[in-house]
Formats: sequence, C-alpha cells, structure tokens
Amino acid sequence: MKIAVPAETDLGEPRVGATPDTVKRLIGLGADIAVETGAGVQSGILDSDYSAVGATIAASASEALSGADVVLKVRRPTEAELSLYAPGMLVLAIMDPHGHEAALEAMAKVGVSAFAMELMPRITRAQVMDVLSSQANLAGYRAVIDASAEFGRALPQMMTAAGTVPAGRVFVMGAGVAGLQAIATARRLGAIVTATDVRPAAKEQVASLGAKFIAVEDEEFKQAESATGYAKPMSAEYQAKQAALVADHIKKQDIVITTALIPGRPAPRLVTAEMVASMRPGSIIVDLAVERGGNVEGALPGEVVDINGVKIVGHLNVPGRLAASASPLYAKNLYNFFETMVDKDAKALAVKWDDELVKATLLTRDGAVVHPNFAPKTEGAAQ
Ligand code: NAI
Repeated sequence: MKIAVPAETDLGEPRVGATPDTVKRLIGLGADIAVETGAGVQSGILDSDYSAVGATIAASASEALSGADVVLKVRRPTEAELSLYAPGMLVLAIMDPHGHEAALEAMAKVGVSAFAMELMPRITRAQVMDVLSSQANLAGYRAVIDASAEFGRALPQMMTAAGTVPAGRVFVMGAGVAGLQAIATARRLGAIVTATDVRPAAKEQVASLGAKFIAVEDEEFKQAESATGYAKPMSAEYQAKQAALVADHIKKQDIVITTALIPGRPAPRLVTAEMVASMRPGSIIVDLAVERGGNVEGALPGEVVDINGVKIVGHLNVPGRLAASASPLYAKNLYNFFETMVDKDAKALAVKWDDELVKATLLTRDGAVVHPNFAPKTEGAAQ
C-alpha cells in the first residue's frame, strides 16, 4: 500500500495533506509514504521532518505518484496533475464539486476513486474527519486578526493617563463554526460583539460566548434549520426584514465579519452597497464567503477594496493564511477517514463501499461520476 503526498500546484494553496504525525500513523497502518519534496514547506514542515518519521522524499510529483494506491491532497487534482494518476487510485481532497462537473468528469475519465472531504456527513462518528469545521474554525479566528490588522484603532477599551480608547464594535453575521470562533476571538481582543444568524440554535451559542444576538425571530426563523443542521435559504420577505434590522445596526459597527453560507448554493447577500456606504470611514468588513459569491456587495475575491474609507477584505483561502495550524488539523481529518478504509490486520486497503461516509463523499469510481448529487442525469429517468 503506497500513499503519495504531492505538493499542491495551486499557488494559492500553502497547505499539505500529511504531517510528520499523520505519516507516522499511516506507516503504522502498513503504508509506504512518498512525499514530494517541498510539499510541507509553506506549512513549516521540512522534507527532513517527513523523512525522520519514515517517509520517502520524492524528487517530483510523478515520482511520488508512481505506483501509488492512495493520494492525500488538499485540492482537487487539475487535469495536468491527473495525467500522473492511474486508474483505481483513491484520492482524498477538498474537491469543491459544486458547479465543477467537467472537473469531476476528468477525474472519472482517469478512473480514480475521488472522495470529497467537505461532503462528510455531520454525524458524531465523522466529527474527527470534518474538514469544514477544522478549517472554518481557523478562518473565523483569522478573519478577526485580518480585520484588526486593517483597522486603524485598537479593539480593547484602554484607560490611560492621556485618555480613554473606546472598545471596538464587532458584528458577526453567520454564527456557525467560523462565526462562533470569530465571536470568541473578538471577545478575547476586548471588542463589544454582536452576532446574527437565521438558525435559532445559534442564539444560545452566541450568548454563551458573551455576545449579543440580533435577529428577526419570526415563525420562519423558528423553522430555519434543516435536519442536517444547516441553514435553509430564507424567503424574500424574511430577507427584507433581516436587511432592515441589519441596516440599522451595521452603521454603528467598526468591524463586520460575514460567514453566511448555504451548502451547495451561492452565499446569501447580507450587506448591500447602501449598508457599506452607511458605515464610518475606517470601518472594516471581512467577507469570509467571498469565494462562494460573497455576502457583501462590492467584495472582490483576493482583494481588499476601499469604498470611501470602508475596507472590504476578501482574502482567498483564509485557512491557508494559517497553514501551519490548518495543515495538521486537515491532515488529521484525512488520516481519520483513511483509517476506516484499511484492514488493520491484513495491513491492506479494504474500502467499505457501502459505508455511509464513503457513500456520502465518493464522487467518482470505475470511470464514472457516481455521487447522486453530481452524476449526470440519465435520459428518460423517472421524474
Ligand atoms: P455554514 O458554513 O454552512 O454557514 C455559516 C453560518 O451562516 C451558519 O450558521 C448559517 O446558519 C448561517 N447563515 C446562512 N444563511 C444566513 C443568513 N441569511 N443570515 C445569517 N446567517 C446565515 O455552517 P457551519 O459553520 O458549517 O455550521 C452549521 C451548523 O452545523 C452549526 O450549527 C454547527 O454547530 C453545526 N455543526 C455540527 C457538526 C456535527 O458534527 N454535528 C460539526 C460542525 C458543525
């Protein structure tokens, strides 16, 4: 059983799919590990750190992938990368499948079994494999750090002989994993924090972190959480009420952090250009949803936009801005999932194709896109 850990080819991706800790564990499962030279450098991991625990360092991606049964990656392999892959390989990565049907077809064509880590069900057994949580938590933290770095004032209240510096006001929109960590981080920095969400369960969580919950709590709000714990798209009527509430609140804020997402859909638009214009110069908005269409009108992926002194921060791959923290958590998520695919006595691959975690994440197998949400609809299929 050979496992390849190639370096990520996307220049915006500093994370890596294995760490010395997970390499040690993978070797314990009976695997040989080939890490492409330099794969861990941007996460603070040297080739020598990997070789010290028993990995082989490959001089190129093709050397790492040659003869491999399994590939541990951060991002979905590109078509160029796929030219090095062989039929039957198991590929575990964040696959970003929504709207990328052609890329899924390309993986199917090569014959790999591709697993999308972000489709992992949110059940207790799979919490240790939940890349959305492990990475969103860091993104929420980093959003506050990025905002405070752009902010021209201090966040905590400071009483000095020369006068009092008032505490900053931070408003977090979307109180899921990223939002809750943003609230906690802003509180630690001494800010006065408010937060909103459409899921009623968020109310108590926000309060427990010492922040004030602000939301339109009508009948629709009471039903807004899906069975899987995610938000539902809200009606136009609700959105209008939410916008009115937010418009009044946002103009008094120094920092706004938006994290609102709905799985498989574009991010909801929560902050309009008028709301941005209502904020004081020097205010900061961080849009963590910018890669999924953005919560904030005017946010641009990968840019810090200045609109009349209000900065809208749209950094890409925010967990990657903390790669040395993000990679160990991500690699551990990968390891925990991969471990379920190994027969520990035989020290051999034994994928349980019927396992609910496999079924939920498997995108392609044996030359076809097999995931029900992404497989091409068969002509004449029952309606
Ligand atoms: P997410 O990343 O899909 O969305 C972020 C937040 O945006 C969510 O809280 C969502 O309700 C909110 N949102 C969506 N539309 C909105 C709107 N129009 N206005 C305001 N807020 C809006 O969600 P995330 O962070 O992945 O977590 C969703 C839930 O799943 C949370 O309750 C979390 O605690 C739970 N969870 C459960 C896990 C488990 O294993 N049981 C693991 C991780 C999270």
